[in-house]
Amino acid sequence: MRLIAPSVLSADFANLGRDVEMLNRSDADWVHVDVMDGRFVPNISFGFPVMEPLHQLSTKPLDVHLMIVHPEDYVERFCDAGAWSVGFHLEAVDDPMPAIRAIREKGCRTCLTVNPDINFTRLYPYLEEVDMVLLMSVFAGFGGQRFIPDTLDKVRAVRKEIDSRGLKTMIEVDGGVNIDNAGLLFEAGADVLVAGSSVFHAPNPEEAIRQLKQAESR
Ligand code: DX5
Ligand code: ZN
Repeated sequence: MRLIAPSVLSADFANLGRDVEMLNRSDADWVHVDVMDGRFVPNISFGFPVMEPLHQLSTKPLDVHLMIVHPEDYVERFCDAGAWSVGFHLEAVDDPMPAIRAIREKGCRTCLTVNPDINFTRLYPYLEEVDMVLLMSVFAGFGGQRFIPDTLDKVRAVRKEIDSRGLKTMIEVDGGVNIDNAGLLFEAGADVLVAGSSVFHAPNPEEAIRQLKQAESR
């Protein structure tokens, strides 16, 4: 699959409605929603009050990425707030299963993620349990960081593991995605690419989304 999920973290919040309408018109598949609490990551973004207009205005599924401590306390509220998919960090919890079950029981898709310094094979025991795994290609916390190249090898390894077990689990990659690495990531086996600054800071964001989707390996 080749899906693009622009991250509204890089949108213009004074014109959020305009930016969401652009995404509605565009080839974007999902809208990525980065929630940061200033505890799990050294930055604070937004929460429920911003979910509301996104849910009202977006015609695309909301792919929520929780970068918060104790995600198990909040996952259900994000489902109620209109999330289509809710993802949280494995390293933020002792046991991810209660939160995974809670998300699933709300009828949302489940996603488990790890930062670049966490061994990605720690996701393997949960590949059967979640709809998607998210490999961070920058350290969670800020948009506009540089892509970490060894993510490509991680994507290949996880792809191999998923395929060898005959699973349908999707692979998402988040951080520093641009036209130079998007084709390589898709070729390595990624299904969904999150892109913040390379979309919203482009002269023509709609065109940037189209190009990311069709990116060839260079
Ligand atoms: C980083 C967030 C990302 C971020 C991506 O903590 O999880 O989703 O918005 O932004 P870019 O594409 O600019 O790296
Ligand atoms: Zn994200």
